[in-house]
Amino acid sequence: MALLSILRYPDPCLNKIAKPIASVDARIVQLVADMLETMYEAKGIGLAATQVDVHERLIVIDVSEERDQPLVLINPQLVWTSPATHINEEGCLSVPGIYDGVERFDAVHVQAQDARGVLRTIEADELLAVCIQHEMDHLMGKVFVEYLSPLKRNRIKKKMLKVQREDAL
Ligand code: NI
Repeated sequence: MALLSILRYPDPCLNKIAKPIASVDARIVQLVADMLETMYEAKGIGLAATQVDVHERLIVIDVSEERDQPLVLINPQLVWTSPATHINEEGCLSVPGIYDGVERFDAVHVQAQDARGVLRTIEADELLAVCIQHEMDHLMGKVFVEYLSPLKRNRIKKKMLKVQREDAL
């Protein structure tokens, strides 16, 4: 296993659109293992392949308290969304230290292949539903701060670039 480096906003690679995964082969199994390790190490609850600069439709999630319930979604598709929505505070490993409200469906049903390539339907609500929507956005090249006002987004962009310059010193 290996830790992968996580792209930081506003890296333009975060805006790439991920391609479907044709088969869950050894390369994908390795990528899943590496992404899970990277997510746990970074203390995140979700990580999309886009964030590790792999532009394929793969997400790993673990919203459990004990950090022992990994969920792997390959080629995820939303098949149902609840009529109700809510604004939830979100953060992102690609935008460290920034938290803000984004409107999401309260519940979703998502169809995806698991780590063995088996097609499943997951019924999600609460934090898991929010996390799935956030991570699926990454696969479409969208970072949560891009929902915020241009003013807020620019402020965040400047802050991120400043932190990255300081890190580089
Ligand atoms: Ni994120």
